Amino acid sequence: MSKSDPAVTVQFHHQRIPIEAGESVLEALLRAHHAVPNSCRAGLCQSCLLQSDESWLQQSDSVRLASQQGLSEQQVRAHQFLSCCCFPDTDIKAEFPDPNTGWLAEVVGRQLLSPRVLELRLNVSGKWKPGQHVLLWKNQRTARLYSIASHRERDGVLVLHIARHAEGEVSRWIHDQLQIGDQLRLSPANGHCVYEAEDASKPLLLVAIGTGLAAVLGVLKEALAQNHQGPISVYFAAAHPDEVYLCEELQQLAQQHSNLQVCVVSGATEQSSDAQQTEVLAFGDLLDAVRLNQKSLRGNRVYLCGAASAVAALQKLCFFAGAGRLDIITEAFP
Ligand SMILES: Cc1cc2nc3c(=O)[nH]c(=O)nc-3n(C[C@H](O)[C@H](O)[C@H](O)COP(=O)(O)OP(=O)(O)OC[C@H]3O[C@@H](n4cnc5c(N)ncnc54)[C@H](O)[C@@H]3O)c2cc1C
Ligand code: FES
Repeated sequence: MSKSDPAVTVQFHHQRIPIEAGESVLEALLRAHHAVPNSCRAGLCQSCLLQSDESWLQQSDSVRLASQQGLSEQQVRAHQFLSCCCFPDTDIKAEFPDPNTGWLAEVVGRQLLSPRVLELRLNVSGKWKPGQHVLLWKNQRTARLYSIASHRERDGVLVLHIARHAEGEVSRWIHDQLQIGDQLRLSPANGHCVYEAEDASKPLLLVAIGTGLAAVLGVLKEALAQNHQGPISVYFAAAHPDEVYLCEELQQLAQQHSNLQVCVVSGATEQSSDAQQTEVLAFGDLLDAVRLNQKSLRGNRVYLCGAASAVAALQKLCFFAGAGRLDIITEAFP
């Protein structure tokens, strides 16, 4: 990532702010007391998303690549970028993206899957693939990414699994305030965490940590619907019993499909009722469980979804167990 020239400025809300050496656009705006939403500051969560204009094309390829990683084609065409990863090499104009350009969604269902995880069902007219994610806007300024657990034709609605964070701005709002009939804005679906039909005979390894299960379930159900022939191993880990959910559904799928094995790894000191029918190990044993049971991952397609720290450790493990770098697909939450 290149460091910014000290002479470079960012124009935001009619104010021209110098970007100091080594500062990102986000850091310069925060220093100038602009309330730009941010969370991971590592290009993962997209909460610092801003939009430029045609002048964006004057930035070098490396600047544009570094700050548009993981964005959809539509976002790239609209000159949107992640301000935490943007170290411009020439003056830049920036503003908040217009949330009104995305999809309009209506809440048509909500139910707790566990004390901490809410299933949100949304009516949306856009197209998506199970396992992709959408940016869900709380208001004009604040949005978070959530993975899609459902299939457009099979399920009819877009299904999200949302974990409630005690101090979390958006997840608390969704859990505590969003009601059936409410309307909200989503970005169009994006992301590469999807089942590929050409993988039909490959072994699949799917690992979900917490609500990483939304994406994993999306990919898993799509693989089963497309009659996947290779063996499928699913690991579901949760740090807390309140985050253990849908274990019964996973076990039922395993009973119906002889090529599917499910292992739930939970830090539950007291098991949640949902976890009672499953093999439950300590949370810290996730890596050991994968290491022991998946000795060689050569030729596997691997999906790792959930907390970034766990995903990073698993990614390393899977790579050293023989999985190709391009065969490891990750959805890392900040
Ligand atoms: C690709 C992708 C897919 C995702 N999919 C899902 C999904 O399917 N389901 C899901 O539940 N999440 C998912 N996430 C995570 C989600 O986008 C949000 O990060 C999450 O819901 C938290 O947002 P929030 O606004 O509630 O919390 P934030 O307000 O962003 O806070 C994040 C965390 O920081 C803590 N925190 C907040 N303020 C402070 C403070 N001042 N001091 C200390 N700690 C603080 C909060 O307790 C919380 O734990 C995904 C993320 C990515 C990148
Ligand atoms: S704060 Fe920039 S992507 Fe998370």
